[in-house]
Amino acid sequence: MQELFVEGGKRLCGELTIQGSKNGVLPVLAATILCAGECVVENCPHLSDVEASVAILRHLGCCTRRDGGALVVDTTHMDRGEVPDALMREMRSSVIFLGAILARQGEATLSYPGGCELGPRPIDLHLAALRALGAEIEERGGVLRCKAKVLTAAELVLPLPSVGATENAILAACGAEGTTVIYNAAREPEIAELQDFLNAMGADVRGAGSSIVTVAGKRALHGGTHRVIADRIVAATYLCAAAACGGDVRLSGVEPRQLSTVTGALAEAGCQVESADSAVTLRSAAPIRAIRPVRTAPYPGFPTDAQPALMAALLKSAGSTVFVENIFENRYRHVDELARMGADVRVAGRVAVVSGVEALHGASVKCTDLRGGAALVLAGLQAEGVTRVTRLEHIDRGYESIERDLAALGAAIARRET
Ligand code: UD1
Repeated sequence: MQELFVEGGKRLCGELTIQGSKNGVLPVLAATILCAGECVVENCPHLSDVEASVAILRHLGCCTRRDGGALVVDTTHMDRGEVPDALMREMRSSVIFLGAILARQGEATLSYPGGCELGPRPIDLHLAALRALGAEIEERGGVLRCKAKVLTAAELVLPLPSVGATENAILAACGAEGTTVIYNAAREPEIAELQDFLNAMGADVRGAGSSIVTVAGKRALHGGTHRVIADRIVAATYLCAAAACGGDVRLSGVEPRQLSTVTGALAEAGCQVESADSAVTLRSAAPIRAIRPVRTAPYPGFPTDAQPALMAALLKSAGSTVFVENIFENRYRHVDELARMGADVRVAGRVAVVSGVEALHGASVKCTDLRGGAALVLAGLQAEGVTRVTRLEHIDRGYESIERDLAALGAAIARRET
């Protein structure tokens, strides 16, 4: 078993280049199968979720290889349309392959991704979009059988701007006759990233970043090269860490506009934040102060994925901060673990109130999910003594090496086999 040992109390200083985005690269990897050719995905992060996608691609008959920081995917000989249960379970967002397989093969069989650590995570919007494009979908015994001899363009109105459903709809629409219009599309930067990659493959996708996306389907797609954008949530995590611990950090490779709600909150908490072309600098003389209520919302609102890190940053703040989680039901599961370290966080349904405490103390804590796990590490950085963090498989889904990055900024943190 691997554990992180975090010794709190160090200031964080220095410069870091932020890894490629998990949520950016996953739909890009699914999109590679829309062509029969070679795609080069540069700045591809080393993450277990990427490995899970690679396992799916290989199962489908694609070849993959690492070439330095790039992942090369050759989809020429893809000959399967079914993903076994074991691979689907490794990563909830594997459902993103559904639209892409359907567009390529006309048929897809996937097991249901099921619930997840953040509460129920339905895929009804994904399925409704695919059905509207002409797919026949049968759900039986946890297995989804999807067929579409022909996919036909449609006007899709998403009842809520789901990121995954938007991505699935775009991927399937690339294989549909005619022009599909998606209304109330998610506006996350990862949608624009998917659009950029698809267009590099010869597709005609427009409007990503706005709430109306159009896809002119049935274009002949070819292999393409794409550079994955920096992970805005990883960047947000390290900004929150520096805000809480005090220090002076510069994160490079990032798009500051994508971080504006997070940097805005940290500035309100008393940090000095400066944004340059592709870098953000943060100076903090911790402790920071409480801020106005933080409400998570679809992009460009405050990201639900950054909520646990910001909450962790405020554990020793002066005053109380209210969080309202509007995206996922179960996003406070790590709060019980924080309590073991002396944190004062009260949860009632979607609302959590964080009251700053004088001191946190090291404890043994267990990750409950990806972002909650990172929040435990941030709490450890501020605690007196040593914090042991277990169940690191959650953190490793989204952070290449949280200990490498934080140690580079001066944190006392190490991973050990126990
Ligand atoms: C993506 C991100 C995740 C992020 C989330 C919100 C990836 C791999 N994951 O997840 O890190 O936290 O966006 O920014 O990119 N919903 C339905 N029916 C559906 C689909 C979604 O009711 O068919 C609901 C969900 O339960 C949730 C909300 O819509 O309440 C938003 O979910 P969605 O935007 O789809 O998130 P994901 O794509 O799963």
